[in-house]
Amino acid sequence: MKKIGNFNIFIDKSFDSVCELAAQEILDFIKKKPNAVIGLATGNTPKGLYKSLVKKAKEQNVSFKQVTTFNLDEYVGLDEKSSDSYNVYMQKHLFQHLDFDENRIHLPSLSKDIEQNIDDYQKLLSEHKIDIQILGIGSNGHIGFNEPGTKFDSKVHLADLTESTIYDNQIYFKDTNNIPKQAITMGIDDIMKAGKILLLASGSNKRKTIKTLIDGQITESFPASILKKHPLVYIYLDHHAALDISTLQF
Ligand code: F6R
Repeated sequence: MKKIGNFNIFIDKSFDSVCELAAQEILDFIKKKPNAVIGLATGNTPKGLYKSLVKKAKEQNVSFKQVTTFNLDEYVGLDEKSSDSYNVYMQKHLFQHLDFDENRIHLPSLSKDIEQNIDDYQKLLSEHKIDIQILGIGSNGHIGFNEPGTKFDSKVHLADLTESTIYDNQIYFKDTNNIPKQAITMGIDDIMKAGKILLLASGSNKRKTIKTLIDGQITESFPASILKKHPLVYIYLDHHAALDISTLQF
């Protein structure tokens, strides 16, 4: 583990190894606090974390029955049952494999009108305190779908995805003509209220992003930079994502 500013950074050649560390961190927390509240991310990055979490939870007999979850975001314009929705992603990669109580699982809903869905999600969030928030990071520095320029005091809102995010996301969609351009996302202020943040990144396409996160200034044009003000941040990187960090000696 290396400490740079307030960031506790774990780096390994293998991303699977750092995912295992992050998974164990979550499990150890749930062992101490079985009714923990966990903030969840989607996308490519957390897949390895969820795989490891499922395996370790089974091996170590950890129950998720009392765990409450809040996902960071959900696309707008998709059916909740669409295979491209984050709802379906979460079932596939995590929820269906462990003993989650479906009443304690929360994602922004796509069922009612957007304003109502936003208000409902904010209300639910305000009734809970997230103990651990899992984050990936967009190549433009977004966390959740808080794109560059989003106010640091933002709450749950409807986000317009930037061209670069839509471009990055196209590999995940079967129908590339219908890639969502908007999402309901937790705001930056909601994310910053979490007790502990676990941010994961892998691959050389995140190298520049991680360098900016660690070496750059705090600015709304790079949303993840606000994490420098959070008291407890763990960052899990593979070698490729970490290579450009100037303050690290390899
Ligand atoms: C997903 C999310 C996004 C992703 C980010 C990185 O719930 O909130 O911020 O974490 O776009 O995505 P991947 O991991 O696909 O590179």
